Amino acid sequence: MTLDTLIPVAYLIAAVTFILGLKGLTSPTTAVMGNRIAATGMLIAVIATFFASDVRGAVPVILAGVVVGGAAGFYGARVVKMTAMPQMVALFNGAGGGAAALVSILEFSRELDLGALAFGSTLATLLGLVIGAVSFSGSAIAFGKLQGLITPKAFRYAGQQLVTGALVAAIGVLAFVLLAASLGALAVDAMLIVVAITVLALVFGVALVMPIGGADMPVVISLLNAYTGLAVAMAGFTLGNQLLIVAGTLVGASGTILTRLMSKAMNRSLGNVLFGAFGAATATGATTAVARDDGRAIRSISAEDAAILLGYAQNVIVVPGYGLAVAQAQHNVRELADLLESKGINVRYAIHPVAGRMPGHMNVLLAEANVPYDKLFDMEQINPEFPRADVALVIGANDVTNPAARSNPGSPIYGMPILDVDKAQNVIVIKRSMKPGFAGIDNDLYLDPKTAMLFGDAKEAVGKVVQELKRAA
Ligand code: TAP
Repeated sequence: MTLDTLIPVAYLIAAVTFILGLKGLTSPTTAVMGNRIAATGMLIAVIATFFASDVRGAVPVILAGVVVGGAAGFYGARVVKMTAMPQMVALFNGAGGGAAALVSILEFSRELDLGALAFGSTLATLLGLVIGAVSFSGSAIAFGKLQGLITPKAFRYAGQQLVTGALVAAIGVLAFVLLAASLGALAVDAMLIVVAITVLALVFGVALVMPIGGADMPVVISLLNAYTGLAVAMAGFTLGNQLLIVAGTLVGASGTILTRLMSKAMNRSLGNVLFGAFGAATATGATTAVARDDGRAIRSISAEDAAILLGYAQNVIVVPGYGLAVAQAQHNVRELADLLESKGINVRYAIHPVAGRMPGHMNVLLAEANVPYDKLFDMEQINPEFPRADVALVIGANDVTNPAARSNPGSPIYGMPILDVDKAQNVIVIKRSMKPGFAGIDNDLYLDPKTAMLFGDAKEAVGKVVQELKRAA
């Protein structure tokens, strides 16, 4: 038995660990272990690849790449703020797509040199190249928007769909020519066509992501992640590497499922996310705080009053949102919950699937502050509990609590499943102003007579409530 025959066995073991890893990621309690299992599998696969006969000579170069890339990735992952995680994922994602595109180009030029252009491999190479290049440039734009390097607003211009359509058509025609050449039906400069397709695919990635508002980026990044998976799977076909096919397919499938889940949780089609510029519009049915004059007033309270209300409660449901993440208030929230629990008050957390700006954003934040997992409840589990809650404490959450999603067919978020915060006995909302959230619409919850607004930065406001509770103890 040679080393080369053992490599597929190592790949098989790695593929199994990837599946086990994904299974582990389905629950917060097993997520860390799942991650470790999959990472170990990847390590086994990388080491095994070093022993492949066609790779052995290049090991020093590969090791140099591993050291540089590994150090950059390790440093980035250590220092990244939780709120900057989407752009970090975009960066990694773009690197994956770019790598898949480069592999496709190199393999294509190798086959050309050997004079062995075949239809099947040309098709796989083309798909890997186009999808990888789109993912690379699209992710770069997504990173730039989220990092504030370019305007996060949806960038639109007249004739935009025409331009995008023309790009797709041009890529299609060139791909057709290349495939015809691989069948011997046409004599063309194949490498020139590959270069042209690469440039067009890069431009298409930019054209695809520029018109999307910054706040929709997590959905787009998840979609681009699925693209990268597909590109990697295609690179696997090109290289004849089964592990790349398995890993790429898993990423492609899970990215697609995640994209669908996110769109569904926002009650929007993927088409609407890609072409709708949701965040930019204030649609019909939305009102502005200033213009609204229906006799209902906003009630603002002090930290002291909030502490009294919370101190007398038996059941408190904390509703975290994007503002909690921005303010990094998770540790203060944990301290508040500990204080309340020490008084015998039942504290639970209501987690909306798209609260914050990335999937699992709230779970990760609260886990960082060691909030026990069994205190976190999904929307379906916690919604029937709101009528029994003495206080719903909304911290930096807005859209995911907006009753207009249930009651106002004219609202842009009509139909989006929300947390039934308005059904609690009392509501305290912590945010800095009356400004709207991501959807750009006002929230009628703030005008509900049982709602009290505690204005301020989430970290400071929660900190003040904690001080008041301690003072009263
Ligand atoms: P949002 O509706 O965006 O509201 C966040 C609120 O936090 C804002 O109204 C803001 O009000 C407040 N805030 C900001 N900084 C704050 C600070 N330092 N202290 C206190 N409050 C602060 O957030 P949400 O309720 O979590 O909803 C998430 C939204 O993002 C949804 O519309 C969802 O569809 C969208 N989205 C989510 C995802 C994922 S995967 N999570 C992906 C794409 C889009 P002030 O400015 O007045 O403070």
